[in-house]
Amino acid sequence: MDDDTARSRLDAATADLDPPLAVLDLDALDANAADLERRAGGRPIRVASKSVRSRPVLRRVLARPGFAGVLAYTLPEALWLAGGDDPVSTDVVVGYPTADRTALRTLAADPELAARVTLMVDSPEQLDLVDAVTAPGARPELRICLDLDASLRAAGGRVHVGVRRSPVHTPEQAAALARTVSGRPGFRLVGLMAYEAQVAGVQNSPPGRPLRGLAVRGMQAVSVRELTGRRGAAVTAVREVADLEFVNGGGTGSLETTTADASVTELAAGSGLYSPTLFDGYRAFRGSPAVLFALPVTRRPAPGTVTVAGGGWIASGPAGADRLPTPVHPAGLTMVGTEGAGEVQTPLRGAAADRLRVGDRVWVRHAKAGEVAEHVAVLHTLAGDRLTGAFDTYRGEGRSFG
Ligand SMILES: Cc1ncc(COP(=O)(O)O)c(C=O)c1O
Repeated sequence: MDDDTARSRLDAATADLDPPLAVLDLDALDANAADLERRAGGRPIRVASKSVRSRPVLRRVLARPGFAGVLAYTLPEALWLAGGDDPVSTDVVVGYPTADRTALRTLAADPELAARVTLMVDSPEQLDLVDAVTAPGARPELRICLDLDASLRAAGGRVHVGVRRSPVHTPEQAAALARTVSGRPGFRLVGLMAYEAQVAGVQNSPPGRPLRGLAVRGMQAVSVRELTGRRGAAVTAVREVADLEFVNGGGTGSLETTTADASVTELAAGSGLYSPTLFDGYRAFRGSPAVLFALPVTRRPAPGTVTVAGGGWIASGPAGADRLPTPVHPAGLTMVGTEGAGEVQTPLRGAAADRLRVGDRVWVRHAKAGEVAEHVAVLHTLAGDRLTGAFDTYRGEGRSFG
C-alpha cells in the first residue's frame, strides 16, 4: 500500500476521533500471529505480555492454535491475568524474579492461583524472600521456573554478549540450583527458561547498515551453536533432579533457531504481534506494522516544519535514535535533532510538512511493542478499512505494572 493510500485509509477510519489515538490493525495482527506460528514450526508460543499490554489482544492471540500460556512481566500482573472467573490464561509464567511481598502473600493464600502461576528464580535468595513472606508449611506448593543465562561468554568471561540477568550459566550451576529448589519445602520445580536476547532481540539486518548486519549474524551463529549445546546439557542435568513440565526459550527474533533446539518444548514471543520499528531489521521475517498512533498538527512554526501535539513516546533500552518513534504517514517527516520527541509537542521537518494543516494528523510507529499501550486507554481496532471497536489496554483498565 503506498503512503497516500495507507494514510487516507487511517485518516478516514478514524475521522470521528480526536488524536492522540492508537489503532490496532487486526488484519496485520492476525497475519503477524500466523507468521509467528509458521516460524515456530509447530512448537507452542507462550505470549510475552509485556509486548502486548492489552487483555483483549492476549485473549485473541491465545485463541489461536499456535499460542499457549502467558509469559508475564510482574507477579501482580500474573495474578490479575490468571485470577477471577474468566482468566486470560490458567498457565502464567512470570518471566522475571519478583520481590513483591504483597503479591507473594496473595499467591500463597490462594491454591487456585498457586496452581496457575509460576515464579522465576535464579538464586536461593529469591526462595528466602518467599519463605520470609509466607511460611513453607502454611502454603500450597509454589511453582518454580529456573532462569538459565543464555548469554554468550568468551575469553574466560571477559567478553559478554547478551543481557545481564541470571547468574546461572553452566549446566552444573543449573543442576545445583535445581537440587536446592527441590530440596526446599513449599516449592516445586516445574520449568526452565533460557532466553537468548542477543539472538531474539538484536536486529541482524538493520536497514542501511550491512556491515553491522554481517557482524551480528556472525555473532548469532556462534551464540546459537554454543547455546544449543549448553542449554541441552542444562536441561538434561535438571531433568535428573525434577520432572520439568516445560523448557522455554527464544523471542520474536529467534523463533527459527530456538525451535530447532530439541531441548526446548515451547517458545516465547510478543513483539512480533505489533511489529514495531525495532523489529524491522531481521533477515528471516518481515512483520506488518499492526499498531500506529496519530498525533494532531497544532502549529506551523516555519516553512517545511509542522509541530504535532505530544510525541515523546520513547522506547526503553540503551538511549539512542532507534528508541524514538518514527513518523510514517505522510512519508518523509523527521524529528529535529535539537528537540527529538517532545514531552508535550514535537516539531517535524520535511517536504510533506507544507501540505499539512492544523488539525491534520501524522501517523507514527513506536520503536517497541507493548510500551505504546502505556500511553493510551484503548487501541481502536481496524479491520479492512473500518473501525470495528476498541480494545482496552492495561492502562485503560486502570492497571499499570511498571
Ligand atoms: C524472558 C523473555 N522471553 C522472551 C522475550 C521475547 O519477547 P518479544 O518477542 O516481545 O521480543 C523477552 C523479551 O525481552 C524476554 O525477556
